[in-house]
Amino acid sequence: MPVNVTIKPAGRALALAKGLPVILTFDEKTAEQVTIGDVKSALQAKFPRKFSLEGSKNALDDEKTLIETSSENKSAASGSFTLTVKDLGPQVSWRTVFLVEYAGPLIIHPLIYLFPQVFYRTTFEHSQLQTLTYVLVLLHFLKRELETLFVHRFSHATMPLRNIFKNSAHYHILSGILLAGGVYGPWYSRKALAGSLRANPTFLAACTGVWLVAEALNFHAHLTVRNLRPAGTKTRGIPRGGLFELVSVPNYFTEVVAWTAITVMTQSPFAVLFLVVSTGQMAIWAAKKHRGYKKEFGSNYPKGRKAMFPFIF
Ligand SMILES: NC(=O)c1ccc[n+]([C@@H]2O[C@H](COP(=O)([O-])OP(=O)(O)OC[C@H]3O[C@@H](n4cnc5c(N)ncnc54)[C@H](OP(=O)(O)O)[C@@H]3O)[C@@H](O)[C@H]2O)c1
Repeated sequence: MPVNVTIKPAGRALALAKGLPVILTFDEKTAEQVTIGDVKSALQAKFPRKFSLEGSKNALDDEKTLIETSSENKSAASGSFTLTVKDLGPQVSWRTVFLVEYAGPLIIHPLIYLFPQVFYRTTFEHSQLQTLTYVLVLLHFLKRELETLFVHRFSHATMPLRNIFKNSAHYHILSGILLAGGVYGPWYSRKALAGSLRANPTFLAACTGVWLVAEALNFHAHLTVRNLRPAGTKTRGIPRGGLFELVSVPNYFTEVVAWTAITVMTQSPFAVLFLVVSTGQMAIWAAKKHRGYKKEFGSNYPKGRKAMFPFIF
């Protein structure tokens, strides 16, 4: 018996709506064999757009078969299925979004650090604090670009194009223009900081040491999750070892520690602002990921593990 799938438009079918509803017929497979991915491919041949397919409530995974969606499908028994399609609009890859986000500070910091006469209308000798901040910020974002290209294995291929502007604003404005503009100014010059804690080499070395350890552990966390996912798959596993024994997302925890080191070192209100916004955002994501792990792995998930901050949260 052929499998018929009726595709109806959902609220946001936009450009697809004119050609819908459409019935797709699969002659050579049973409902146990036809996956949502197969339906998408067949629909994509008719409508070259990015869309999601939904049952009665939520977007469906590509790996699910039609029969697995049948609890949501009233007419499944007759070999006829109904799915709704939602147009996702223009898309951009996660990798591109990450690369663009981090490119902002990598361009903005050199401009403001190297051309003080243009931005501050004066010339002055940079302090050690300014040079060190410049180097650490560039190394941080260079590391993130390289990890994006060579370490991360993303499970989501794309996201809506508008996200690139929203996500980039966080990095380009807060850790780009504001942080660089606030730290590389004449108020932090060698002369201005002379004799202060921020000109003390031991203090600067201690902050740099904390930053280095945090970045190394952050890299370790990224490698650990990467190794849980064979290339080309969306597999998820329980990460183990190192700080993962204490928290679900040590990569967020160590990111916060690294930026805390820069904030303590610079004592800049703009560093505080970026740290607070970043920590808040990562804490929300950490709580969600922690709940997700517990739901997905149940009693196999280590009991004492916190979400983001060891022993606390
Ligand atoms: N300063 C800031 O404001 C800020 C904010 C957020 C992030 N960051 C930095 O950016 C880094 C990346 O952020 P993110 O939110 O993308 O981190 P993430 O959710 O931990 O993901 C990192 C990569 O690991 C994969 N992954 C995560 N858990 C996995 C598991 N259990 N099994 C297999 N693969 C897994 C993810 O795949 P999926 O595609 O499946 O998720 C993704 O490709 C952070 O670690 C942090 O250093 C900075």
